[in-house]
Amino acid sequence: MGLDTPMKKPHDRLAEMLDQDMAEVNALIRQRMASKHAPRIPEVTAHLVDAGGKRLRPLLTLASARLCGYEGPFHVHLAATVEFIHTATLLHDDVVDESRQRRGRPTANLLWDNKSSVLVGDYLFARAFQLMVEPGNLRVLNILSNAAATIAEGEVLQLTAAQDLKTTEEIYLQVVRGKTAALFSAATEVGGVIAGVDEGLIQALYTYGDALGIAFQIADDLLDYQGDSKTTGKNVGDDFRERKLTLPVIKAIAAASEDERAFWKRTIEKGDQRDGDLEHALDLLNRHGALAATRDDALEWAQTAKIAMRALPASDLREVLIELADFVVARLY
Ligand code: IPE
Ligand code: IPE
Ligand code: MG
Ligand code: MG
Repeated sequence: MGLDTPMKKPHDRLAEMLDQDMAEVNALIRQRMASKHAPRIPEVTAHLVDAGGKRLRPLLTLASARLCGYEGPFHVHLAATVEFIHTATLLHDDVVDESRQRRGRPTANLLWDNKSSVLVGDYLFARAFQLMVEPGNLRVLNILSNAAATIAEGEVLQLTAAQDLKTTEEIYLQVVRGKTAALFSAATEVGGVIAGVDEGLIQALYTYGDALGIAFQIADDLLDYQGDSKTTGKNVGDDFRERKLTLPVIKAIAAASEDERAFWKRTIEKGDQRDGDLEHALDLLNRHGALAATRDDALEWAQTAKIAMRALPASDLREVLIELADFVVARLY
């Protein structure tokens, strides 16, 4: 490969390696997102599903199952399940966050309304539950239904923690584990479970998914301040405007002078934001090295994910999953 040929992204390579499986997942998603009775449902779901998204979570399930030698048909149902849960949470999350852009498109709450987003999100959750039952595996059902509860719990915890300047890195981690990592770890774990591999390998898959999910969300929170909306498909500065206390801000507050504390109190706690506040916030984050320290944390979680993945049998899929851990933090440079 020439120097000017950009390396394909790991999730695109996963999608190529698993293209047959992924085609089945996409067909199943299309089939199950339909509704005979309520035309608003396919309108809203098609808007979000047609926009694509990286399909990271279903790829993780397919890759984990294949990596563990699974030959049956049900990894496809499980992969579609995790993407349905993900899509449902995105619909709800954009209502809660009052977001206007998702996957490079206007959000469903903006194009239709909050009611449609909440109800179609509920529908997708219910469809996810129908799908997860189909493999007839109680352990898988247990993992995925727990993940659905944990995601909701993480989002609710964030609701109370986000605007409270006393929020610690420990609470932030709890939020992130819930709202994001729980679905990543469930996605990888069920791949091993359906394949029937040893507990040690299932645990390694869980740890990989958990650490990857945490690294991914920390990266996402960092990109909210230093990203480019053309590549993220989301608006820069949303978290600040939403008064969300993410890791960079938690670190900057820990190092804040009295004046700086007053600034965070006004903008995040009281929500009194004025022109130039986002720029000032960015300046403080840089001045205290909070962005660099956040990046280091993301790198450390990516490292944990890679170490866990090395316990799995060597294969091309395993190598791409290891590269994926590097990639989620490489977006930060
Ligand atoms: C967005 O997830 C929600 C977060 C956990 C930050 P993705 O970035 O995987 O979303 P899509 O599916 O690719 O749009
Ligand atoms: C994403 O939360 C996690 C869920 C959707 C449950 P965020 O609110 O941080 O993610 P974005 O930035 O909207 O994708
Ligand atoms: Mg959001
Ligand atoms: Mg949110």
